[in-house]
Amino acid sequence: MSFRRVVALAATLVATAAVAHGAPKPAAPAAAGSSAPAASTPAQPPGPLPGDAKAGQAKAAVCGACHGMDGNSTDAQYPKLAGQNEEYIVRQLHNFKSGKRQNPIMLGFASQLSGQDMANVGAYFMSQHVHPGVADEKLVKAGEKIYREGDAKLGIPACMACHGPDGRGNPGAAYPQLAGQHAQYLLKTLTAWHDGTTWGDDAHARIMPAIAKRLTTQDITAVSSYLEGLHTNTQTTDDAAP
Ligand code: HEC
Ligand code: HEC
Repeated sequence: MSFRRVVALAATLVATAAVAHGAPKPAAPAAAGSSAPAASTPAQPPGPLPGDAKAGQAKAAVCGACHGMDGNSTDAQYPKLAGQNEEYIVRQLHNFKSGKRQNPIMLGFASQLSGQDMANVGAYFMSQHVHPGVADEKLVKAGEKIYREGDAKLGIPACMACHGPDGRGNPGAAYPQLAGQHAQYLLKTLTAWHDGTTWGDDAHARIMPAIAKRLTTQDITAVSSYLEGLHTNTQTTDDAAP
């Protein structure tokens, strides 16, 4: 039953996101995305601004120290951003800036970015490719089962319903890519939600804490390891991208 509810919720969110993203945007300042917006930066713009990957690359140089220049961080405490969708990156940067998602390091970095900067760095990292790691063979089967099937009895939806069969996520709905992410980071994030951490209280932010609450430590460990080794289906989808 919960599975249905969550999927229905997902459908609503996709529809909402589509409306928000499809809404015509007011004319932007003439400059091609590289300069800061003229007047003020709204705390929460209606939707991600169209990002300029080239302008974003320059802004992302400072991020590279932790996240890797191409978004493939080598230190597992820093999440990989390579291939992550712009919508999700922008949402998280707003979350950090507003304090809805609490992290003292990222509060500092996100606070220096305007809404347009966020879209630009998001577009830059999205244009990169994630380099997956290797899953623990002993955990793959259990992790795959949770990811692909969930556990109806426990009200755990299949993760792939939202994050995609190959773990690429869903940009239109700001569902993040999970494939190739450091298991250590995934484990830390899922455990924090399980233990009551939230990233705000809108409908979107309530999804993962509700799911993570039902996962056991073993489930979290297994699915995190499985995801680190998961490869996105880039051959068919990315080759056409610039
Ligand atoms: C000194 C290290 C450091 C630097 C520099 C840094 N970050 Fe981060 N970033 C982190 C850490 C640590 C986290 C994980 C925070 C958490 O666990 O909630 C993070 C998380 C993020 C996330 C969330 C990723 C996810 O999968 O949810 C985004 C987006 C992000 N950073 C973007 C940036 C951008 C853009 C810059 C540059 C403007 C930047 N970061 C610079 C340390 C850093
Ligand atoms: C109904 C849709 C939905 C389902 C099903 C779902 N997720 Fe998510 N997931 C989300 C959303 C939305 C976010 C972003 C949350 C936010 O922005 O506040 C997210 C974020 C995440 C993140 C954070 C990624 C990062 O880079 O920080 C992890 C980890 C995650 N989900 C794991 C899972 C796992 C494991 C499952 C299956 C047990 C799952 N999700 C099922 C919607 C879903």
